[in-house]
Amino acid sequence: MLAGTPRGKTLAAVLATTLAAAALAGCNSTPPPTPLSQLNDQQMRGHAVFQARCGVCHYDRQRGDLHGPSLLGVFKKQALPSGAAATDERVMATIQHGRNMMPPVGSSMDPQDVADVLAYLHTL
Ligand code: HEC
Repeated sequence: MLAGTPRGKTLAAVLATTLAAAALAGCNSTPPPTPLSQLNDQQMRGHAVFQARCGVCHYDRQRGDLHGPSLLGVFKKQALPSGAAATDERVMATIQHGRNMMPPVGSSMDPQDVADVLAYLHTL
C-alpha cells in the first residue's frame, strides 16, 4: 500500500507527469503501421515493391529522413511532406513523375506494382 504514504504520492505524481508527457508527445504521431504478419497478399507484394523501388530513399516503418522523407503514416496524415493533400492521386503522381530530387521511378514500374505499393503505403 504505497499510495497512502508520502513516498507513494510522490511516485504517483511522477507517474502522472510522465504519462501526461507521453500523451502530449503522442499528439504528433500517427497510429503504428499494421504489423507485416497481418498484411494481405497485395499489401505484402507492395511491401516487396517498396523494398525494391523506394526503400533506398525512404524509411517506411520508422521516422526520419533517408534521401527523402519517411513515409511512415503517410496516408494517416492530412498532408504529404510537401504540403499537398495526402491522396492516392498525389502519391501516384509523385511516383510517376518524381518530385525535385525524387526521380520518376514509376515510369519504369509495372502499373500493378504501383497499385500494390500504394496499398502497402496505406498500412503504414
Ligand atoms: C532516389 C531516391 C528516391 C526513390 C527511389 C524514391 N523516392 Fe520518393 N522522394 C525522394 C525525395 C528526395 C523526396 C522529396 C522530394 C521533395 O519534396 O523535394 C521524395 C518524396 C516522396 C513523397 C512525398 C511527396 C510530397 O508531395 O511531399 C512520396 C509520397 C514519395 N517520395 C514516395 C515514393 C515511393 C512510393 C517510392 C517508390 C515507388 C519512392 N518515393 C522512391 C526520393 C526518392
